[in-house]
Amino acid sequence: MIRTTLFTTLLAAVLGLAASVAGAGELKANRTALISGETLELTYTSDKAVTQDVYLAIVLADGATFFMDTTGNFPAYKAGAATPARLSKPAAGSHKLLSFTVPEGFTQEISFYVAEGRAGSDILAGDTWNYDVDTRRSKTVSFQKRATELDGGSVSASTGKTLYDQHCAVCHSDPKLNLGFIQRGIDPKKTMAKNASLVPMKYLSKLSRDEIINIAAYIASAR
Ligand code: HEC
Repeated sequence: MIRTTLFTTLLAAVLGLAASVAGAGELKANRTALISGETLELTYTSDKAVTQDVYLAIVLADGATFFMDTTGNFPAYKAGAATPARLSKPAAGSHKLLSFTVPEGFTQEISFYVAEGRAGSDILAGDTWNYDVDTRRSKTVSFQKRATELDGGSVSASTGKTLYDQHCAVCHSDPKLNLGFIQRGIDPKKTMAKNASLVPMKYLSKLSRDEIINIAAYIASAR
């Protein structure tokens, strides 16, 4: 009897928590790994009207932080000054945050954060911040080299497909269905680094650099 009550209470607490988290907006990215010429689309989707402003922070690998404003400019973050909001109290629905076509030679990893916070404040101020931590969402996106930029020689996506089916598909399945994950293998260096460091992939160190580059070309073509 007591157990049932306790269980029901716990369940209600868990469901309540899940409901409040699900109530906040979602940050969506069409891809989390891109090569030059592809376009990153970030959107903010909320199933109810947002009563606060929505902020979009862009954080580079070296920690430099920018907030994109309503016009699409992104001034660097200034402590003590009002942080520019990306969306001002947006209505329910899906809102475009960013559309960025990757230029040639642009290779880096960038983290995007959104959060709902108090309008006109420095939202990172103090110990408690002026934004609602429960609404914070993030995506890390890597902008990568094409396989052919690493090796101008003869790169074959079809040879890569054969190798992929043999060595990678068992764990990573169809690369088209796996955008945020195996897609990082578009950059052969990422696969080689994983082969060197990750226990379940270590045995794949036997694959040559050229084989990994062909696999990368296949992953880039399967999009
Ligand atoms: C035995 C299972 C297994 C096989 C086979 C395997 N992988 Fe992985 N791979 C993993 C796991 C597990 C991870 C996640 C590690 C982590 O948390 O970063 C991973 C991560 C990766 C990543 C990094 C993804 C990221 O988000 O940084 C790349 C790239 C990758 N694998 C490429 C490959 C390629 C290419 C092959 C075939 C040559 C392959 N893997 C074969 C299990 C496997």
